[in-house]
Amino acid sequence: MTEPIHVALAGCGAMGEIVARTVYTGLGGLTAAIDPDPRRAAVVAELTGALPFGSLAEARRAVRVDAVDVRVPHHLHSGLVLEALGAGCHVMVEKPLATTLSDARAMVAAAADAGLVLAVAENYPHLRAVHDARAALDAGRIGDVLALRSTRAYQVGGVWVRDGWRHGTGPSGGILLDQGTHQVSLLRALVGPVEAVAADGDLGTVALTLRMRSGVVAQSMLSWSSPGPAAQAEATVLGTGGRLDVVVDYEGDEGGCLVWTPTSSEHGGKENYYDSHRLMVLDWLESIRTGAEPVVPGEEGMADLAVVVAAAESLAKGGASVAVRAVGHAGA
Ligand SMILES: NC(=O)c1ccc[n+]([C@@H]2O[C@H](COP(=O)([O-])OP(=O)(O)OC[C@H]3O[C@@H](n4cnc5c(N)ncnc54)[C@H](O)[C@@H]3O)[C@@H](O)[C@H]2O)c1
Repeated sequence: MTEPIHVALAGCGAMGEIVARTVYTGLGGLTAAIDPDPRRAAVVAELTGALPFGSLAEARRAVRVDAVDVRVPHHLHSGLVLEALGAGCHVMVEKPLATTLSDARAMVAAAADAGLVLAVAENYPHLRAVHDARAALDAGRIGDVLALRSTRAYQVGGVWVRDGWRHGTGPSGGILLDQGTHQVSLLRALVGPVEAVAADGDLGTVALTLRMRSGVVAQSMLSWSSPGPAAQAEATVLGTGGRLDVVVDYEGDEGGCLVWTPTSSEHGGKENYYDSHRLMVLDWLESIRTGAEPVVPGEEGMADLAVVVAAAESLAKGGASVAVRAVGHAGA
């Protein structure tokens, strides 16, 4: 029998409630539902059987907490993660790892110094479509890669904007932080590290041109003001022998990798984007149990953030290309 891991969920807002409902209700093990808004903590407590608390400190005084799953607004990630690591708890934190590289470095160093797992809830490396795309590229199914693009465009609304921090000009605001790390993670998973990035746009719509270390050029468009279908080809890779699309579906199960060549066409998958949240939590708990590195450790979250930080610098400089800072062993 493996010893149960006692998990506290910190942040019972939109994402916290989804994870509670779709992951922890089936998994068990949640001992604390933490949110300064007592109604939100109560909803998650009711769903999962955890006890509701207003803060991590309060929860730790009352119940056993081995690990903390952090689902709070971006600028609050680092403070809460450092508090949890300082208390000897393993951590899973939502993307982006932090809002600054110095905060990200402090979080990664604190986890390493304490010998604790720091995993980032970054979905793309967990998607089967991305694994299949990577395998097709490695097998040379579309020949040599010429160029690639990614698009994340949708109309944000409802629970995602009710507290205002996402849309605002504050430290957590803007689509670059919110969706930029996702798209960088997707592009890096497909063709490797990013060397430099140029960005143009505003808080809600941004276009990026990324020079990958391999020499290939990528473009990425992000917008939360453009409605579109729930299932879309978020990434397309053009090769000398064909092309592939990574289709992501947020509502149904039409996600998967489409590999096309002049003589064949294969769509390998039936996947919903949110299934990856269960995979991420299971991977994190497995890392805690076995000591194996999680699929997306803090270093990888920091590498994604380094590209977004360079893109923000480019935006501030009117679209000039900015070199991505090297961060630890993961590269960027
Ligand atoms: N990976 C994904 O697919 C995905 C999707 C959506 C959101 N997210 C991420 O999830 C995180 C939360 O986003 P959201 O849309 O759920 O935000 P939200 O505003 O709906 O919820 C955040 C909650 O955190 C609570 N909170 C604030 N300080 C806290 C503290 N110290 N301790 C505990 N709780 C605290 C707030 O009261 C709020 O209820 C963000 O990092 C966001 O980027 C990830």
